[in-house]
Amino acid sequence: AHQWRGVIREYADRLPVTESTRVITLGEGGTPLVHAPALSELTGCSVYLKVEGMNPTGSFKDRGMTMAITAAVEAGAKAVVCASTGNTSASAAAYATQAGLTCAVLVPDGKIAMGKLSQAIAHGAELLQVHGNFDNCLEVARKLAESYPVFLVNSVNPARIEGQKTAAFEVVDFLGDAPDYHLLPVGNAGNITAYWKGYKEYSQPYTSATAGELPAVSTKTPTMWGFQAEGASPLVKGYPVTEPDTIATAIRIGNPASWDQAIAARDESGGLIEAVTDEEILEAHRWLSAREGVFVEPASAAGVAGLLKKHAAGDVPEGKTIVITVTGHGLKDPQWALKAADGSDVEPTKVEFDVVSVAGALGLADSH
Ligand code: F0G
Repeated sequence: AHQWRGVIREYADRLPVTESTRVITLGEGGTPLVHAPALSELTGCSVYLKVEGMNPTGSFKDRGMTMAITAAVEAGAKAVVCASTGNTSASAAAYATQAGLTCAVLVPDGKIAMGKLSQAIAHGAELLQVHGNFDNCLEVARKLAESYPVFLVNSVNPARIEGQKTAAFEVVDFLGDAPDYHLLPVGNAGNITAYWKGYKEYSQPYTSATAGELPAVSTKTPTMWGFQAEGASPLVKGYPVTEPDTIATAIRIGNPASWDQAIAARDESGGLIEAVTDEEILEAHRWLSAREGVFVEPASAAGVAGLLKKHAAGDVPEGKTIVITVTGHGLKDPQWALKAADGSDVEPTKVEFDVVSVAGALGLADSH
């Protein structure tokens, strides 16, 4: 029986690896592209969700981390470091464990979700909670990697972008061509950079280092629509935000490392980068859970929040194919599901241990 072999082996022709590369993989990628019936009906488009929470550590970061840790091993590194709002640290810790590398992670104190913190600790990372935000953590991680023998695995490392571009390949391979629009959340801006690179490479002939000249796979590239949280929207404002704030902690970033590449993806694709409020993010989060059956963490809902907002403004043409990346699993940060739309706590109903109480609580009438 054939099992998905992870993004490096599936897309080896288009990645910087050779026959002799020792591949560090947890079988990442090959994630479902799920048709979203409620969003499709609302917009009159074919809307699909690229469900990246289905990766081994529960986020899209695994696509980049298989490449980054593989590159670290190839470079003879003994230790890796990253700054993170949570998901990168969980992923780095897991892949470093398989490779036998020490992993240090710098996270903003008190601002990362419990699920992610637990993962980094479970995988034995040296976890440092930094008195500062993500941008401060990244600055220190970069300096550490410059002056000490540790290998940086943030998305400023090109290996990360190479791995993450495979998500665009999978979308095209599944749909048979690129979609008309691709929507996604934007934080440090590595992912929008990676998707755009992947879509561009698939739309033209590609000179493979190992397989020679490969023909174009898609006939076009999509229009890229990126969405930041309003309190952390430097790319929308046009200048860095010194105190980024949003409930979507994964994208609580004020000075994205891939700033220029994100702007290039926007402009080359004829797209946009706009902001969505925390309220809009939580509304999209509830929509995904209650109407599509897909449970994500809040930041992951920013792309869907963007679609709902653009649709309400009359800016989404009918009949298009739209792919939205939902970046991380709902179990990473599950507390938001227990809040109702009005902000009140959702309390489970308690019942006595008998069938009449249960039927009563469910509002069922006796069928006899
Ligand atoms: N969604 C989730 C769930 C994330 O964890 C991130 C980034 C993003 C979206 C934004 O992606 O940075 O490539 O624009 N998380 C990083 C981390 C910063 O440390 O886990 P981006």
